[in-house]
Amino acid sequence: MAGLRLSLVVMVLIVPWSCAFRVGPRAGSVNRFESMLRSPVELDDEEEMRNGTNWAVLVAGSNGYGNYRHQADVCHAYQILKRGGLKEENIIVFMFDDIANSELNPRRGVIINSPRGEDVYAGVPKDYTGDQVTAANLYAVILGDKNSVKGGSGKVVDSGPNDRIFIYYSDHGGPGVLGMPDMVYVYANDFINVLKKKHAAGTYKEMVLYVEACESGSIFEGLMPNNLSIYVQTASGVDENSWGTYCPGMDPAPPPEFMTCLGDLYSISWMEDSETHNLKKETIEQQYKKVKDRTSNSNTYTAGSHVMEYGTKEIKKEKVYLYQGFDPASKNFPANRAQAKGQMGTIDQRDADLLFLWQMYKRSPENSIKKTEVFKQISETMAQRAHLADSINMIGKVLFDPGQSNSILNSRRAPGSPLVDDWNCLKSMVQLFEAHCGSLTQYGMKHMRAFANICNDQISLSAMEDACTAVCGRESIAWIPRISKEGGYSS
Ligand SMILES: *[C@@H]1O[C@H](CO)[C@@H](O)[C@H](O)[C@H]1NC(C)=O
Ligand SMILES: *[C@@H]1O[C@H](CO)[C@@H](O)[C@H](O)[C@H]1NC(C)=O
Repeated sequence: MAGLRLSLVVMVLIVPWSCAFRVGPRAGSVNRFESMLRSPVELDDEEEMRNGTNWAVLVAGSNGYGNYRHQADVCHAYQILKRGGLKEENIIVFMFDDIANSELNPRRGVIINSPRGEDVYAGVPKDYTGDQVTAANLYAVILGDKNSVKGGSGKVVDSGPNDRIFIYYSDHGGPGVLGMPDMVYVYANDFINVLKKKHAAGTYKEMVLYVEACESGSIFEGLMPNNLSIYVQTASGVDENSWGTYCPGMDPAPPPEFMTCLGDLYSISWMEDSETHNLKKETIEQQYKKVKDRTSNSNTYTAGSHVMEYGTKEIKKEKVYLYQGFDPASKNFPANRAQAKGQMGTIDQRDADLLFLWQMYKRSPENSIKKTEVFKQISETMAQRAHLADSINMIGKVLFDPGQSNSILNSRRAPGSPLVDDWNCLKSMVQLFEAHCGSLTQYGMKHMRAFANICNDQISLSAMEDACTAVCGRESIAWIPRISKEGGYSS
C-alpha cells in the first residue's frame, strides 16, 4: 500500500522536473585568489569612488532550509562588496538568518554558495533578520528613513548626492511581486514609487539593481522610468522562472551531505564573474553579456532564463567597481574573460523546495516517524498547489465565460505594458482570495497574473467576493501555510 502511494508521488514529483534536470559538463571552477598578495590601490583609480560613498542593500526574501540558496547568495554578495572595500556601515543586509544554525545544516555555523565554496556567512552583519525582514523595512532603508524602520540595527541608506547605491535581491517572486518571509509581498508599483521618491530626494548619483526571482522582469516592465539614473538587471523576463542551481543530484552537485540547492543561476553568474575579474576594468555591460549568456544556460533557455535590463542603460558603460568595489587582490585579473562554458544543472525555483523534501525523504531511515512526516509534508505541499490552481481556475469560470476563462486569466499584455493598471485592485483581489481560499503562499505568487487580469477585465470586488465564496466557502478554514519547525518549507 505504502509502496503504491509512494510510487505515485514519485511520478508526480519527477514529471514536472524532467524539463528542469539538465545535466552537462562541469562548469569551470571558481578562480579563487586568496593566495595572491594584496597590493596597494592606485590612487587615481580611486578618485571616482572617493568623491562619494558606496552603499549597498542586500535582500534575501525567503526563509526555510529548502530556500538555503537565497541567503547563501546574499551572504556571498556581502563578502564580495566587503572585499571590494565597501564599509560594513554602508552595507545593509536583510536575511531571515535561519540557515547557518539550522539542525539540517551539515556544516553548522557555515553557509556556502558553491560546491567547493568557502564560508560566506562569517562576518555578515545581521541588520534585519527574522520578522524584521519586511517590505516596509526595505522601503524605509532605501529611503534612509530611520524613523520608519522597525527593529533591526537601524542602519539605513543615509546617502548624499554623490553616492552610488547597489541593491541586490534574491528570492521567489511572481508576476508583479517579490516575496518576503512574512508573505507581505513587495508589489512592483510600491517598489518603483520608493525609487522615484529616492530620486526626488536627490540623495544618490546613480544606482544599480540586480534582481533574482521568478518573473522578475514583471517588476519593472512598463513601470521603470529611464530618467532616474537607475540601471536594473533582472534574472528573468516578465513571464519566466528563474533557476536554482548547485542542487543535489545535479551537475555540478553540492557536497553529498547537502539536501538543498546552494545557489541561483543568475546570482552565482554575476558573483562568480565579479570574483574573477578586475572590476576597475570590467564594465557593467561586459558583466551583463557574460551573465546573460550563462543564465540562459548556454542558450538552452528551457532550464535557464533571459536576463533583462531596465532603466538608465547609459550606466552600463561604467566600471563595475563603482558599485561593487575593488578587491586589490584582483588587480591582475582580466577585464573581460569569457566565462567557462558548460551547462549547469538547474531547477525551477518553485520546485526546489520539493527537491529538498524529496532528498530529506530519501535520507530518512526506513519506517521512521521522520520519514512519515516528510512524506506527509510532500503530499500536503502537492495538495496545496493543486488547491490553489483549482480554486483560481474555478473562480475564472464563475467570473468569465467558462470557455474563455483560461485564456483571460493567463493572457499577457503587450511588451512595455505593466502587469496591471490598478495596483490597489490587484492587492484587494489577492486579499479577497486569501480570505476565502487560504494563503497564496510563496508558491502561489505564480498565480498573480490571474488576479491582475481579473482587474484588467474590470471585474468588481463584489463580483470577485461572490466568486471566491462560491468556490472556497465563506471563510478559509484549511490551507493556512504551515512553516515546519525544521524549516522544511515555507510555502
Ligand atoms: C565629484 O563631485 C562633484 C560634485 O560635488 C562633481 O562635479 C565631480 O564631477 C565629481 N567627480 C567625479 C570624479 O565624479
Ligand atoms: C521622467 O520622465 C517622465 C516621462 O517623460 C516624466 O513624466 C517625469 O517627470 C520624469 N522624471 C524625472 C525625475 O525627470
